Amino acid sequence: MNKKLKLQKPTGMHDILPSDQKYFEKVYNTCKSVADFYGFSKIDTPILEETELFIKGTGETTDIVQKEMFTLRTKGGDSLTLRPEFTPGIVRAYIEHGMKNLPQPVKLYSFGPLFRFEKPQAGRYRQFNQFNLEIIGEDSPIADVQIIQIFYNILSELKFKKLIVKINSIGDSQCRSYYRKLLTNYCRSRQRLLCSDCQRRLKENPLRVLDCKEETCQRTFSQAPQIIDHLCEECHSHFKLVLEFLDEIEMPYSLDPYLVRGLDYYTKTAFEIFVEDTAGTVPAQQGQSPLSKSALSGGGRYDNMVKIFSGEDVAAVGGAMGVERIILAMKGLDIKLTETPNIQIFLIQLGELAKRKSLKLLEGFRKAKIQISEALGKDSLKTQLGIANKLKIKYVLILGQKEALDGTIIIKDMELEKQEIVKLEEVVGEMKRRLKA
Ligand code: HAM
Repeated sequence: MNKKLKLQKPTGMHDILPSDQKYFEKVYNTCKSVADFYGFSKIDTPILEETELFIKGTGETTDIVQKEMFTLRTKGGDSLTLRPEFTPGIVRAYIEHGMKNLPQPVKLYSFGPLFRFEKPQAGRYRQFNQFNLEIIGEDSPIADVQIIQIFYNILSELKFKKLIVKINSIGDSQCRSYYRKLLTNYCRSRQRLLCSDCQRRLKENPLRVLDCKEETCQRTFSQAPQIIDHLCEECHSHFKLVLEFLDEIEMPYSLDPYLVRGLDYYTKTAFEIFVEDTAGTVPAQQGQSPLSKSALSGGGRYDNMVKIFSGEDVAAVGGAMGVERIILAMKGLDIKLTETPNIQIFLIQLGELAKRKSLKLLEGFRKAKIQISEALGKDSLKTQLGIANKLKIKYVLILGQKEALDGTIIIKDMELEKQEIVKLEEVVGEMKRRLKA
């Protein structure tokens, strides 16, 4: 039973080290400011939800529900699942909190961790973070375009260039059933060329075969009938308007008739955003052609989820982007962050009295919003100076035993190698003046 502790993070999960936090902050701040501008409010939902919510919401035949959920049984016997995506939880909250009674649409954004038991590879993790947007209670195609535009704007603000939006309409329950038959007939005659997953998908949810990442399957489907040729009138005119709005805002998009996305709930518009550069992007998933890189963002319309949960007719559209995937691509493309300025002041204290006075002095700097570094646990001058040198500090403040008794402090300019003594109560003001200069 005494198994040796491996001291390793779980497979497919990662630590976000202090050195990477600045990327997460940059992505979060950019997402937040764009979402605020477009009138979205933040919503946080629990990381665990009832398993049934994802079976019904995400869809029984999706890879997520069939293979990728982290599910646990509580001591009370309930089955809960670590959320593999935000959308079903947010729709649950919309219904549970009667948001239908608010002015519609309700625009919500979220940021946080998700869990999918996937085969880990670059840009594909078992725990990852998403920024997610939902517009609930709006059936106009302009909402589809606004979602796409927001993700596009966020990625542009993060300095991604050559972005391309891939877009398709996958119709609704009316037109999809006819197309499903056409596609099934097409696949049946080529069944032996399909992978075992596609053979299964063909029985359970034929449209999903188009999402297969296997090269031979992708080749087989390259001649398959296309759903946009078989849309009903309503889906056709919705999609036409989406494209017209995209033209209006000069959004670079390309029609991808085989884009179906891996989730069951989409109706009408489905989209994904990629970066066109071949160098530096997130590597293609295993089995994908080099051109089909991993999407930075994806989403679409889902007009049936509220109905599935509560029976009410409420149209919705949304999307999400993977934060780790974006950071990986930023690094791959050498997108630089603006450097945060180094801390310029270091406090050295020597002796008991000086140590005690240091605590109050630091408070003075905090209130004046001046960054200052210290090593209060250390006692020797040499050690503290060594740390200040490593941090490339410009000003060292020395509070020795004598100074602590006199109520003074030494300011040492490390670059000019000059020092002067000032009154302790004046040092914050003096440093403010020097930093401004
Ligand atoms: P999704 O396409 O499953 O959609 O995920 C959206 C984005 O999350 C992907 O484009 C990718 O950047 C990132 N992502 C997905 N899986 C992983 C993973 N294993 N590791 C790292 N990043 C990943 C959704 O989740 C939908 N809920 C989006 C949506 C919202 N549709 C409507 N509303």
